[in-house]
Amino acid sequence: MSEHTDKFIFPRWANYVLPLLVLGAIGGGMYAPTAVFLALNPDNLNRNYRPTQPIPYSHALHVGQLGLDCTYCHTTVMHAGFAAIPPTQTCVACHGAGPDVPPDQNGLQIKPQSAKLAPLYESVASGDPVEWVKVHDLADYAYFNHAAHVTKGIGCVTCHGRIDQMGEEGVHQVNNLSMSWCIECHREPEKYLRPASEVTNMAWTPFDTPEVQAAIQAGSLEEGDLAAAQLLIGRAVKEDMQIHNKHYMQACSTCHR
Ligand code: HEC
Ligand code: HEC
Ligand code: HEC
Ligand code: HEC
Ligand code: HEC
Repeated sequence: MSEHTDKFIFPRWANYVLPLLVLGAIGGGMYAPTAVFLALNPDNLNRNYRPTQPIPYSHALHVGQLGLDCTYCHTTVMHAGFAAIPPTQTCVACHGAGPDVPPDQNGLQIKPQSAKLAPLYESVASGDPVEWVKVHDLADYAYFNHAAHVTKGIGCVTCHGRIDQMGEEGVHQVNNLSMSWCIECHREPEKYLRPASEVTNMAWTPFDTPEVQAAIQAGSLEEGDLAAAQLLIGRAVKEDMQIHNKHYMQACSTCHR
């Protein structure tokens, strides 16, 4: 488990210094030492982590080209804490039950007997799931919940990046998932909030909304000012969704329960 070996590089006590430094940075402007420490933080090593998967499944093909929505496969993400990895059956609906059963579902041109799908056919035969390797893995002492984020208007792309452009090489981790990363957004979620209907839309921008277009027409917002356009939408969503106040969002007990 490569992500655990970094525990040997840093002494255990370092783990407890980090949050104190983060708190110091928030309160007293200790920005430079915090930045240096975060740069050394073992958590950052998980950024760009990309394990080799048993099947070279491509999000770029299935999402980017075929246009499947995230929830087609990650079915629990809107109503549960975790985002389910699809079972063999989801793939079989299009890719057939095995090399001898060429599928023709949905009128799609599926290559029968693709060698890349051998582990899928084995899974069908044995009844055991495909052994996908976990990419993101938060420590158990930090509580995370998908539904709490996506139903309030934080898009998948904000945390996971352009998944729809990740190909057969597999998914990689785009953000470090450290405590300071979570808190940076919890302090000012308006910088990231979008209409809840757009959370799985990887290409959404605030310029796609009638509110921003109207503000540009009225001359109160400059065309191309992305930060201002985001704030206009983010503040409206924050109010609509009745997002908790800063105090609650940064309280230790919100994430460590
Ligand atoms: C056709 C099914 C399918 C669709 C549609 C799909 N995914 Fe996936 N996704 C998978 C499979 C299978 C894996 C596990 C293999 C891997 O990690 O590459 C996965 C893995 C992931 C992971 C990494 C999980 C981990 O182990 O940490 C993320 C994040 C993810 N998907 C996000 C998305 C997002 C965002 C969308 C929509 C833009 C999406 N997926 C659409 C099938 C799908
Ligand atoms: C606020 C940030 C955030 C948003 C928004 C978000 N994710 Fe995640 N995602 C995470 C974190 C953090 C993990 C690791 C969770 C863990 O290890 O407990 C994760 C893990 C996953 C996994 C692996 C399975 C799991 O639950 O651990 C999948 C698949 C996934 N996300 C898909 C999605 C999809 C699809 C969306 C949009 C509908 C989405 N995520 C939105 C932060 C986010
Ligand atoms: C909605 C239909 C659909 C679903 C669901 C689907 N696929 Fe696909 N998949 C396709 C199409 C269409 C292609 C492109 C044609 C081809 O390569 O067979 C493709 C191609 C592939 C390829 C490349 C095959 C090759 O030989 O180049 C792999 C690997 C693959 N899919 C894996 C998966 C896995 C794993 C799942 C389940 C997590 C899945 N697919 C779910 C439609 C689907
Ligand atoms: C891009 C912004 C963003 C990021 C990054 C983010 N969050 Fe959140 N988080 C939110 C928003 C917005 C809410 C919804 C708050 C509400 O409902 O009032 C939320 C809610 C939560 C809640 C539920 C609070 C409750 O009781 O309703 C938890 C727990 C949480 N986040 C933990 C985390 C953790 C842990 C991370 C880092 C791994 C993280 N968040 C990263 C924006 C973010
Ligand atoms: C928005 C969510 C969030 C809030 C609020 C939060 N934490 Fe954390 N905390 C995390 C995450 C995420 C991690 C890192 C988990 C990981 O490394 O996988 C973490 C890690 C830690 C660690 C272990 C450090 C390490 O590197 O192992 C301690 C100690 C800690 N937090 C204490 C606190 C205290 C004290 C507070 C309140 C002042 C607090 N946290 C508030 C999300 C949060």
